[in-house]
Amino acid sequence: MPAVLGLIVGLAIAILIFQPVAPQTGGVVINDTAVPPVPTLVSGNVGMGATLYAQHCASCHGPNLEGAANWKQPLADGSLPAPPHDSAGHTWHHTDGLLLNVTLNGGDPAFNSKMPAFREKLNEDEAGAILEFIKSKWGKDEREFQWWITYNNR
Ligand code: HEC
Repeated sequence: MPAVLGLIVGLAIAILIFQPVAPQTGGVVINDTAVPPVPTLVSGNVGMGATLYAQHCASCHGPNLEGAANWKQPLADGSLPAPPHDSAGHTWHHTDGLLLNVTLNGGDPAFNSKMPAFREKLNEDEAGAILEFIKSKWGKDEREFQWWITYNNR
């Protein structure tokens, strides 16, 4: 029965591919590249970040980090609406460096970005605290991936 055989082979491959990797170090391994374990978030920073997020970011990115409605649809002027900062968005695709840079210096005018610069309102520690709060809302996979690219782009 080839269908059953195919299923068994498929399952065997799936089990091979989805082996948990390097649990002994607690590190994160993606694409055969190991990085140290994901750093623990500092609860004081997360708390401060939550307050600052509500004050400065929630109006556009949503009180629950859900982003603007239809955030994937460009607006009439060609700019993009504010994306979610939770796991459903793409914030976790970017390194800490890029996210802090966008927060402090604003989005890229070349893309007609409507993301304002916050360097007059927030210092680096405050921007970092907001980022820690955002990270506290991600799932394990998003957290690990974002840590992995941040570590590899130090
Ligand atoms: C006036 C509305 C507005 C406010 C307020 C705002 N943003 Fe944004 N933000 C945007 C828009 C619109 C984009 C999408 C810009 C683009 O893609 O060109 C964006 C994009 C971003 C991005 C990059 C996109 C990504 O991958 O997630 C980051 C990071 C970000 N914002 C962080 C923040 C933080 C942190 C705050 C609060 C300190 C904040 N934003 C407040 C409108 C806003």
